[in-house]
Amino acid sequence: MINFKIDQQKCIKCGSCVADCPARIIAMDGIPYIAPEKEVACYRCQHCFSICPTGAISILGLDPKNSQTLTGALPEADQMELLIKGRRAVRQYKPENLEPELLQRLLNVACYAPSGLNARQVHFTLVDEREKLAKLRDDVMTGLGKLIKGNGLPPGLEFFADFYRAWEEHGVDILFRGAPHFLVVSAPKGIVSPVEDCLIALTTFELFAQTLGVGTVWDGLAKLAINDLLPEFRTRLGIPEDHVVGYAMAFGKPEVTYARTAQHKPAAVHRVA
Ligand SMILES: Cc1cc2nc3c(=O)[nH]c(=O)nc-3n(C[C@H](O)[C@H](O)[C@H](O)COP(=O)(O)O)c2cc1C
Repeated sequence: MINFKIDQQKCIKCGSCVADCPARIIAMDGIPYIAPEKEVACYRCQHCFSICPTGAISILGLDPKNSQTLTGALPEADQMELLIKGRRAVRQYKPENLEPELLQRLLNVACYAPSGLNARQVHFTLVDEREKLAKLRDDVMTGLGKLIKGNGLPPGLEFFADFYRAWEEHGVDILFRGAPHFLVVSAPKGIVSPVEDCLIALTTFELFAQTLGVGTVWDGLAKLAINDLLPEFRTRLGIPEDHVVGYAMAFGKPEVTYARTAQHKPAAVHRVA
């Protein structure tokens, strides 16, 4: 089922895979093995595969040669620190689509984010062209307009009327911030941590996006509009019915560049005695 195989020529019997398996199902009998009745407990996390120093392990039909090497190839801490501190919510975008290959790369990397019990069920609903987002924006605004006219905005969300007016009267798009692309991340309700998995995937997406010159903005307003105020858009976007929407993000090539980091207060930390 999980196809756990050892290349006996390469295995140095170091026991790393045994010690690192989170399900603790790998045993050593001369070489590492997984008893057939234990296979069902495998997380499919590939820790055994990743930790093996000699590439002796194959699992799930994977060839270690097709992995990227990590040793000595990771970014420096200072670079990562600057990336994290320099990230900003981008609200001015160039009127350009991102290349399809770039979009795919961003999503392929984002889906390496961790998920509870390694569920890996995060689902990306992508608006991949600005023309499509323009149509969606128009239709959401029309929907909002109808809701407003029928006094249908729920208590606490009356401020959506201002966004509608900003669009109708001034062409100012507060809902999608004029971005060319939009992403809704969802996951099946039944998994262990659907919302958390989505948020971690989007956080990963956002950070990686920056390295490729792509700006992002977490889009709570569009999420509210699509998921809560006008849920027919959930169906229109093709978000599976049994999914919970984790969050939404608008993104594209920024029209702005930031010259320096913000200066936030140090972390609020309570050190347990
Ligand atoms: C969960 C969440 C929802 C957000 N929703 C919106 C939004 O709907 N529209 C918007 O312009 N910015 C939104 N933001 C961006 C925040 O306003 C922004 O992150 C914050 O002001 C700090 O600015 P920075 O991201 O540039 O550091 C959201 C951020 C988060 C984390």
